[in-house]
Amino acid sequence: MDKFRITGPTRLSGEVAISGAKNSALPVLAACLLTPEPVVLHRIPRVRDIGTMRRLLQHNGATITEREDGALVVHAAEVTQPEAPYDLVKTMRASSLVLGPLVARTGRARVSLPGGCAIGARPIGMHVTGLEQLGARMEQSHGYIEATVPDRLRGCVYTFDRITVTGTEDLLMAAVLADGETVLENAAREPEVVDVAELLIRMGARIEGAGSSTIRVRGVGRLHGAEHTIIPDRIEAGTFAAAAAITGGEVRVNGCEPEHLTALLSKLRHAGVTVIEEGKSLLVKSSGKLASVDMETQEHPGFATDLQAQFMALMTQAEGISIITERIFENRFMHVLELARMGANIRVEGQRAIVAGPRRLTGAEVIASDLRASASLVIAAQAADGDTIIDRVYHIDRGYEKIEEKLRGLGARMERIEAK
Ligand code: EPU
Repeated sequence: MDKFRITGPTRLSGEVAISGAKNSALPVLAACLLTPEPVVLHRIPRVRDIGTMRRLLQHNGATITEREDGALVVHAAEVTQPEAPYDLVKTMRASSLVLGPLVARTGRARVSLPGGCAIGARPIGMHVTGLEQLGARMEQSHGYIEATVPDRLRGCVYTFDRITVTGTEDLLMAAVLADGETVLENAAREPEVVDVAELLIRMGARIEGAGSSTIRVRGVGRLHGAEHTIIPDRIEAGTFAAAAAITGGEVRVNGCEPEHLTALLSKLRHAGVTVIEEGKSLLVKSSGKLASVDMETQEHPGFATDLQAQFMALMTQAEGISIITERIFENRFMHVLELARMGANIRVEGQRAIVAGPRRLTGAEVIASDLRASASLVIAAQAADGDTIIDRVYHIDRGYEKIEEKLRGLGARMERIEAK
């Protein structure tokens, strides 16, 4: 397994370009199963989860070609195998995103149930009950969810018990081909949901309200091909902003959407970081002197759980006590013990982490436990004295495109030690 060696401390400076959003690209790729015509996608990030989704679509019968300009052309002329096998689902939970599109397009789907994961239970119960409401017969056997629809899905009113991002996307993708109107209540408002809805509308779907808690869909008989550019990755942008701030650096984060990051930017400003929004760029400047701020993760537009670990790394260097509350996942503090190995002073009490700073960080051997936890270790390592070795960087490769190249471009001393 590859490792990173990061030598700190470093003051990051320069410019970095943000890639397309992984969590948008995943449902957008799944949406391509809804039409027999080709869909052209721009700015799909080259990360491991996307590779897994591509394999899944190919398994379903789609062909995927890469154009010279980097665009991906996904063509699901026929769906021959409406199934997401265990081997693919176990490495990427978002595989359940094909459930809705497969049922809507072919009338059946067989998707392996995701198991546990480093950040919590990750159930998909609402994907299942939602599809049931849309008229699918759902059964579970041998670790698989099996869906069948005798004729065509039919519109319904479905209220999510709690907000789920991929659940909203999955049901939205099913509803676009259902007979009649579907209303999704208590829907997720994440920018990634809006992005998928925009692609679906380009494909001929009739959707209103994406980005609000009520989404209305009028089903259509078929969808056609379309061309779409994925939104920039707000979590990657936020990760670089936090990295700039922890090193007392000055970094221009280019090609991002500051509007998708308002909760983080507000916390950074409270912590004493200068953040200047300039169109699709963010200039992040810090003297290195940080004030502690409390933070609670919430659904969008609240503070993203996917930036919690990175913000915690930053708070280890802030003056005073910062209370970080995780409200979305039950077990998303795996990075705490690793940050502690580097010298951080953090105590976990249930859903809260209490960070006392600033504490001098020193390089250590640490293990990446999930994607965003790894990002927090990479950030902390920039501020730590000496060498930090991060093991299991395959987690970070799932969701960050060329992270070491991008950080080296900002002056980081970082190398990948490839497994023999
Ligand atoms: N939940 C249920 N039942 C369900 C679905 C979800 O109880 O049927 C619970 C979950 O256990 C969790 C909460 O609802 O406590 C929210 O989960 P959600 O369904 O919104 O998460 P997700 O859709 O599986 C997406 C992102 C995650 C991100 C979360 C929250 C993708 C592919 N993944 O996951 O991204 O953390 O939303 O914003 O979009 C990451 O990129 O590192 C990542 C984990």
